Amino acid sequence: MKAVVVHEYGGPEVLKYEEVPRPEPKEDQILVRVMAAGVNPVDALIRSGMFAKYEKDVFPIIPGADIAGVIDKVGSKITKFEAGDPVFAYVSLKGGGGYAEYALGTERDTAAKPKSLSYVEAAAVPIVALTAWQALVDTAKLAAGQTVLIHGGSGGVGSFAIQIGKARGAKVIATASTANQDLLKELGADVAIDYTKQKFEDVAKDVDVVLDSVGEDTLARSYGVVKRGGFIVSLVARPERAGLDKHGIRGAALSVEPNSDELAQIGKLIDQKKIKVIVSQTFPLSEATKAQEQVATGHTRGKVVLKVADEPK
Ligand SMILES: NC(=O)c1ccc[n+]([C@@H]2O[C@H](COP(=O)([O-])OP(=O)(O)OC[C@H]3O[C@@H](n4cnc5c(N)ncnc54)[C@H](OP(=O)(O)O)[C@@H]3O)[C@@H](O)[C@H]2O)c1
Repeated sequence: MKAVVVHEYGGPEVLKYEEVPRPEPKEDQILVRVMAAGVNPVDALIRSGMFAKYEKDVFPIIPGADIAGVIDKVGSKITKFEAGDPVFAYVSLKGGGGYAEYALGTERDTAAKPKSLSYVEAAAVPIVALTAWQALVDTAKLAAGQTVLIHGGSGGVGSFAIQIGKARGAKVIATASTANQDLLKELGADVAIDYTKQKFEDVAKDVDVVLDSVGEDTLARSYGVVKRGGFIVSLVARPERAGLDKHGIRGAALSVEPNSDELAQIGKLIDQKKIKVIVSQTFPLSEATKAQEQVATGHTRGKVVLKVADEPK
C-alpha cells in the first residue's frame, strides 16, 4: 500500500511517500481502508522529534491519528464492527498510521461514521472534537446558562468547542484574527473578539470557563476573566497554581484520549445538524508535506485533510 513514512526526525521534508506492507489486524484490531486522514498540529510536532526523549525505536513512523474509511477486516475478538462498515477514529497517536491507504484501529477508538458527512469531513473530526468535548464536558463540566471563552475559535479544536458549547446551552465568547470573525459567528459564537484589534479581557469578564489553545500571554491574561469557582482548561500548558489561587479558580491541562462512546455522541450531534465540520483545505496523500506546513502555521481555518481515495458512491 502507499503511505507517508518518517525515517528520521526533521522538517516536513522527512515525510516520504512510499510503498509499504499493508498491516494485518491482531485479534483486537480493525483494519480500515482509509478514505481520508485528518492532519493535526501534533503530527508535525511528533515528526519534528519534540517527543523524542519519550520514544525509543520508533522508526519508521507512519504519522496521523485521525482517519475515516471503510472496514476491510476485523480481528477475531471484534464484536461491534464488521467488514464494510463506514467508520471514523482517533487511532493511537504513538502507533499513528493514519497517513496511509490502510490503518489499524481498535473498538476503543472507532465509531460509526456520521451518515451526513463525507469521508473527508469525517476525518476532520476525531482528535479536535474529542479534545473540545473532553475539555468542556468532562473536565470543566460546562453547564447550560454558563459563559465560556474559547481562544482560537476558528481552528480545529475551537470550531468544535464553539458548537459543543452552544449545544450545551452555554453563552459562547470566541477569539480569532480579523479574517476569521465571520467563521466565529457562522459557528454560533454569541460574541466574536478580534484578538488583533481588541484585548479579550476588555470584553470577556466573569466567565465560568476558559478553553485555552494558545498558551503563554493568552493563558496568563485569562486567569483574571474567570469568576471565582470557575475553570481554565489549557491544551498547551499547565495552568499555574499561583494564578489559579489568586483568583479562586480551578484549572487543568488536558491531554486528549481516544474514546469511541464520545466520538459516537459527537457523531449524533453532527447528524442532528447541531455541529458542522469546516474543512478549509484538502491535499492528496502524496502531498502530506504541504498539509503539515499549513497546520504548523498555527493559523488554520477549520481543518486540513488528506484525501487518500475517491469517495465511494
Ligand atoms: N492537549 C491536547 O490533547 C491537544 C489536543 C488538540 C490540540 N492541541 C493543541 O491545541 C492547539 C490548537 O489546536 P488546533 O488543532 O485547534 O490548531 P489550529 O487548527 O491550528 O487552530 C489554531 C487557532 O488558533 C488561533 N490563534 C492563533 N493565535 C491566536 C491568539 N493569539 N489568540 C487567539 N487565537 C489564536 C488561530 O486563529 P487565527 O488564524 O484567526 O489567528 C487558529 O484558528 C495546538 O497547539 C495543538 O497542538 C492539544
